[in-house]
Amino acid sequence: MKQLWNKGFQPDQLIEKFTVGRDRELDLRLARYDVQGSMAHIKMLCKIGLLTKEELNILLPALQEIADQIERGEFVIEDGVEDVHSQVEFLLTAKLGDVGKKIHSGRSRNDQVLVDLKLFFRDELRRISDAVSRLFNRLQLLSEEHKDKLMPGYTHLQVAMPSSFGLWFGAYAEVLTDDMQMVIAAYNIANQNPLGSAAGYGSSFPLDREMTTELLGFANPHYNVVAAQMSRGKTERAVASAIAAVASTLGHLAMDVCMWMCNNFGFVKFPDELTTGSSIMPHKKNPDVFEIMRGKCNRLQSLPNELTILTANLPLGYNRDLQLMKDIVFPATTELIDCLDMADFMLEHITVKDGILDDPRYDYIFTVEDVNRLVLQGVPFRDAYRQVGMSVQDGTYKPTREVHHTHLGSIGNPANAQIAAKMASLLSQLH
Ligand code: ARG
Repeated sequence: MKQLWNKGFQPDQLIEKFTVGRDRELDLRLARYDVQGSMAHIKMLCKIGLLTKEELNILLPALQEIADQIERGEFVIEDGVEDVHSQVEFLLTAKLGDVGKKIHSGRSRNDQVLVDLKLFFRDELRRISDAVSRLFNRLQLLSEEHKDKLMPGYTHLQVAMPSSFGLWFGAYAEVLTDDMQMVIAAYNIANQNPLGSAAGYGSSFPLDREMTTELLGFANPHYNVVAAQMSRGKTERAVASAIAAVASTLGHLAMDVCMWMCNNFGFVKFPDELTTGSSIMPHKKNPDVFEIMRGKCNRLQSLPNELTILTANLPLGYNRDLQLMKDIVFPATTELIDCLDMADFMLEHITVKDGILDDPRYDYIFTVEDVNRLVLQGVPFRDAYRQVGMSVQDGTYKPTREVHHTHLGSIGNPANAQIAAKMASLLSQLH
């Protein structure tokens, strides 16, 4: 393997394989950002006099050519090259000779990988927020469409009070707005420029970090070079917390669907072609999609924990352990987006049962309605409670089956418009 850092001896192949790990595969996702970061870096080097205009005019088109290659899906990390940073620099020096060798002044792979990661996470968080917002819209539509369809509400998994499909779908939409706050927080943490921190302690060159911050569209530099390096790990943890937040909502939704699909409930259905079968029981129409979704989302919720353990008590400054975070976080962003898109697709085809509460097994769901009716007639609450309670106890309770919930956020007024406004204002912070 040829290394940027080769000093005349060849490291043992076993050592190389072990330390490079999955970088050659995972780094491909960083390629376009690596080129973007390099372009900003060399423009800045030109401004501070470390590259001439002529050199810049040779380097920029060569980098653009690599960028085009990446967009066409033709970029590869060649055999014998350890990571994306080395591949880009080798391509430049192979093409341009000595000029290519100049681009790394005032930079280390430590701040190079950091800037790549920040740019990558910004984009991934935008993709996550797009997928969240698609599912959010679907849930809101369903909430409006099924506003008047009642379903049992449960506490302790015992029949409790009337709820509705409008509330159920609408609830998940609103919970996603809270998750979106986490996505935005992670975005804001990622949206700071580490370039110029070099190996972690800055450089004796007069680097113009404000310039690269502006060129790369970051909100601000991560000012202190040590803090900038410390953001490797912190940023991943923020991203992982955002992923875990969305995953917990989606996993919960998946569990509800599995339960409502259970034959004992039968509240929701999907077309046959969206269910799966059994190799022995000919009648089965299983909710495997939502089980896989639940499992994947549960795994995703372990991410912050995994990263915390990986990075706990690392010494200050760059340590190679940090590389392993890519193995954890990179597949996770894709996995989450797949789950969100699958949920959206499935819910597009959901059928919900009407008239569920007509079944006498849910009669007791109306007791609170009947207590409240007595209260409105002037009976003190505790007496009304007792009166209805006794009729349940002696088997004479007859539900009135009338549900009038009108307050903000209730069955009759699920406040979908207000929730939509909340999401819109959050999304506007990202785009
Ligand atoms: N693959 C490395 C990583 O992800 C790139 C940085 C290497 N830096 C170093 N000092 N060995 O962390």
